[in-house]
Amino acid sequence: METHRQIQQLKEEINEHNIRYYVHDDPSISDGEYDILLRKLEKLEKENPSLITADSPTQRVGAPPLSEFDSVNHRLPMLSLSNAMNEEEVIEWNSQVEKGLGFENIEFIAEPKLDGLAVELVYENGIFIKGSTRGDGVTGEDITQNLKTIRAIPLRISEDKNPPPLLEVRGEVFMVRKDFTTLNEKRTKSGNPPFANPRNCAAGSLRQLDSGITARRPLRIYVYAPGVIEGLSFQSQSEFLNTLPSWGFPVNPHIKKGKGIDFLLDFYRKGESLRNGLAYDIDGIVFKVDSFSHQEELGVRSRSPRWAIAGKLKTQQVTTMVLDIEASLGRTGAVTPVAKLKPVEVGGVTVSNATLHNQDEIDRKDVRIGDTVLIQRAGEVIPEVVKAIKEKRPKNTKPYILPDTCPVCEQKVYRPEGEVVARCQNLNCPAQVKGRIEHFISKGCMDIDGFGTKLVDQLVESGMVKNIADIYTLTPKQIAGMDRMGEKSAQNIIVGIQSSKNTTMARFVHALGIRNVGEHAAKVLEKYFGGNLDKLRKAGIEELTSIFEIGEIMAESIHEFFQDEDHQKIVDACLESGIKFQEVEVATPSEFTGKTFVFTGSLEKFSRKNAQVMVEKLGARASGSVSSKTDYLVAGPGAGSKLKKAEELGITILSENEFLEKIS
Ligand code: IVH
Repeated sequence: METHRQIQQLKEEINEHNIRYYVHDDPSISDGEYDILLRKLEKLEKENPSLITADSPTQRVGAPPLSEFDSVNHRLPMLSLSNAMNEEEVIEWNSQVEKGLGFENIEFIAEPKLDGLAVELVYENGIFIKGSTRGDGVTGEDITQNLKTIRAIPLRISEDKNPPPLLEVRGEVFMVRKDFTTLNEKRTKSGNPPFANPRNCAAGSLRQLDSGITARRPLRIYVYAPGVIEGLSFQSQSEFLNTLPSWGFPVNPHIKKGKGIDFLLDFYRKGESLRNGLAYDIDGIVFKVDSFSHQEELGVRSRSPRWAIAGKLKTQQVTTMVLDIEASLGRTGAVTPVAKLKPVEVGGVTVSNATLHNQDEIDRKDVRIGDTVLIQRAGEVIPEVVKAIKEKRPKNTKPYILPDTCPVCEQKVYRPEGEVVARCQNLNCPAQVKGRIEHFISKGCMDIDGFGTKLVDQLVESGMVKNIADIYTLTPKQIAGMDRMGEKSAQNIIVGIQSSKNTTMARFVHALGIRNVGEHAAKVLEKYFGGNLDKLRKAGIEELTSIFEIGEIMAESIHEFFQDEDHQKIVDACLESGIKFQEVEVATPSEFTGKTFVFTGSLEKFSRKNAQVMVEKLGARASGSVSSKTDYLVAGPGAGSKLKKAEELGITILSENEFLEKIS
């Protein structure tokens, strides 16, 4: 037989085995036999490299490691789900849906809610071309190389199965519990730290820059939602789910369709025993209105659709003993009591701390040192103490009262009238100083590279850094004098500190850590004050509250912050050390308003971050990936696939200089 036909046949055979195994759970050959086929294909391709195609099963490994992930804009936002915590809330949701649609006994789909990582897979003419994480729902990370290593994800949908020209499907990447345990055993044996749970392990595996590592992790996927689909339309979720397996996508076999509240409650009640019978973790049941036109009628709120809800399953609870209660201190000085527990396993995770929230909670639950307590863990959140089991209380215990001094600086803590949280008021308290500095240097703020927690600890403890402004007085010698700091890394940090001075007002304002002022509010303020910090510093409460999206509480925090004399000195010192803000102009309508730019290659004239700022000033936006919606591609040296794609799509291509010229 002709070699290329032989290769073609092997590829198809292997793909069919993948589908049998992952989609239908019905393998017809052993793992060993599968490997033999794969090796045969590898050998043939090695002898005939020109016959290797991107969709070959041999190409699931071996992409060169990346230096960072590109970002990907989802054509349709990836929404999240609102929760129903109990049967009442499921009943309530059903009523809302009935009211919205104007009739009863709605057709629903019930799906197990997998506890993994949401991804989007994009196919063009049946070829898998892009895979991304959910990210913030609008923009995710390009993890195509990593997703290609997952055998359950088809690299290609053959033509005779009629894939639409554009097909986006969303699903959950997860790990089977048994695979997770085996992997962890291997890791511990080879001296690596084990993963906490299957979810973290799956998420960590997908975020590897080296897809070779991902390839060695036993990841699975179930798909459950459409993105944009062109050239084909579905009437309902059930029709969509029924079609997916024929294209080679695995769909959870426990999905059911049914009508009305009885169906919802029946499935919800069985959820707990369903969970116990599964080989992987789920944390709830997703209920969806089946009909797509009804979904549309109900619509979405800002982040979640009205036509779907996640029915949470009972959280996992166990009992253990409180060995001690400690007060811990956050960045804002809030004092939080934490129960130190006798380590215990809850839902596959060892827990030794649980939050007690505040003094009122301790009083209400009457939790004491020495108590046996019921604790629970609900998904990602910190475990909490549900109640003390009074019958098991040893003699001579005392009600617990939080100390009235700060656990770190020992100054008096203060609990304002009517508030539940006690706070350390000492702005120079080392714990708070550390917290503020960590926030200041973090990515979304001043973004100082290489400046880790350990270094912050040492600089604060040695008294060299007492506030954020002190960072700008540090010398290479001082930094090199810290533990585990070479001269080279000290030098790099200094460079990071210097280049952080060139920033935006929004970043700086966010970095100051003003209570209640996050990234978004900082941007709003920057826009309003046109990048003029002085104006913000002088603004009164009235002016601040007049700004759209700035409420009273925020206005008060801002005003109070800039009135404080210490803060004034610190901000002045920062500015004197050379912190400068890029100008913000109010974007006047221009030829670039609403246009999309993509930057690719190694940029030499400006950083990616600055590029983004520049285009935003023009009222345009920067995107991570080239599509028909891209207006300009700015290509630096070494540009590759994005440049090629832009050429194919006939997009205007600019050099860095041309870009600068055009926008000036
Ligand atoms: S549907 C609007 N279906 O839950 C549709 N999500 O809280 C949103 N998830 O980000 C997604 N299993 O990671 C859907 N069968 C399922 C799901 C599911 C797990 C996750 C997914 C999503 C999150 C939403």
